[in-house]
Amino acid sequence: MKIINLAKGIDQLTVDIENILFEGLWEMPKGVTLNSYIVRGEDIAIVDGFCGWDGIPETLFKLFDQLSLDLNKVKYLVLNHLEPDHSGWITEFKKIHSNFEVICTDKGAELYKAFFGEDEVIHVVNDTSSLDLGDGKVLKFVTTPHVHWPDAMLTYEASSGILFSCDAFGMFGTFERSTFDDDYTDKEIQSFQREINRYYANIIGAFSPFVLKAIEKCKNIEINMIAPGHGLIWRRRKDWILETYQRLAHNQRGEETSGITLLWGSMYGMTEAVVVEVENKLKASGIDYHIHRVPETSWGELLTSVWTSKGVILAMPTYEYKMFPPMAAAFEEIGKKKAQGRIAFRFGSYGWSGGAQKELDEIHDKLRMGWHFVAPYEFKGRARQEDIEHVLTQVDILIRKVKESE
Ligand code: FEO
Repeated sequence: MKIINLAKGIDQLTVDIENILFEGLWEMPKGVTLNSYIVRGEDIAIVDGFCGWDGIPETLFKLFDQLSLDLNKVKYLVLNHLEPDHSGWITEFKKIHSNFEVICTDKGAELYKAFFGEDEVIHVVNDTSSLDLGDGKVLKFVTTPHVHWPDAMLTYEASSGILFSCDAFGMFGTFERSTFDDDYTDKEIQSFQREINRYYANIIGAFSPFVLKAIEKCKNIEINMIAPGHGLIWRRRKDWILETYQRLAHNQRGEETSGITLLWGSMYGMTEAVVVEVENKLKASGIDYHIHRVPETSWGELLTSVWTSKGVILAMPTYEYKMFPPMAAAFEEIGKKKAQGRIAFRFGSYGWSGGAQKELDEIHDKLRMGWHFVAPYEFKGRARQEDIEHVLTQVDILIRKVKESE
C-alpha cells in the first residue's frame, strides 16, 4: 500500500490490483488501483477505508507508524459506497479497532448493517450534512445514487477542495510513475482512454442518466482535485474528466459515438468466410472499425467497443434454431448494460433452419434497446457470390447511415 500526500493532513492510500476479474466478471488487462484516503483534523476520518489491505493487523500498524498516527484514533469511516471493493476490509478492521462511527447515506446504512451488523453508530448524511473534524477540516457530502450502487455519494473536503469521488470519474489501469494526471503528457493520457472507456462501459455505463445528474451537481462545487476510488487523481484535467464522463454517458443512447464494431462468431467457417469480405469492405471505406470474435473475446472488451461505436454488425450462424449461443449471451449483456440506439446489421449462415432473428428480436425488444437494423441477411450453408454481394450491399448501407449520423 503506497502513501501519497495530497494536501496538508490528507493522504491517499493506493494499491495496485492485477490478475483478477473485477466484480468476478470483467477482465482488466492493465489492472486497477484501489484508492482510499485519510483526512486528519483533530479527529481522523478514513474515506473509503483500507481497500486492498491484506487483512494482517501489522500491515496497518506499520502504515499508521509511517503516517505518525495512532490507528486507535480513527473516529470515522466515511463510506461513499458499500460495494465490497471499498468496504470488504471492515470485517477484519473491526477485530483490531471497533471504536469508530460510520458516515454514509441512508441506503448505505442498510447495506452496512447487512454486511457488517449493527454494532456501530451510523450517521446518515445527505446533501446538507457536514462533518467538522477540527483543525480546519470539514467534510461535506454529495449524494449520487446509482453511481454506481444506490447508496453512492461523494465526499468533499472544503479546505483543500478535494472531491473524493469513489467510483465516479474512475478508470482501470495501474500507474507506476505517479498518481496525478498532471505528471503525464496529453499523449500518455490519451493512451489511458481505453481504460477509462472500459471502466465506464463495464461498471458505470448502465447508470448513465445518474452520472449526468452527478456531473451537474459537481458543477456547483469548487473542485481543486478529484480523487476517485480507482485510477488517477485529476488535478490539471478536472474539467476534462468531467467532460469525458459526460460524453461516455451520452454514448449510452448512441450519441457522440462513431465508427463500427463488428462482432462475429462461426462454427465451421461459413460465416467467417463472409466476415473476411466484410472486414475488407470496412477497411476500404476508411471508417473507424473494431472487430471481435465470440466467444474468444471477453464481454468487457466487446462492451467497451460497442459503447463507443455508432454502428454494430452482428455476424453469426444459426445454432439449433437460435442465435449462436455466445453471441446471444454477449448481445443480451450489451442490452442489459443499456447500449441503446445503435445502427445495426445482422448476417450469417444456417444449415437446416433459420431462427436466429427471432431470438435476436426477443432480446432486443425485452431490453428495449432501440437499435435501428438494416434488413438482415441469411444464407444456407456456404455463401455463394450473390450472397456475399448481398451482405456487402447491406454493409454499404450501414456505413452510409453511420457516416451520416456521426
Ligand atoms: Fe469501486 Fe462500485 O465499486
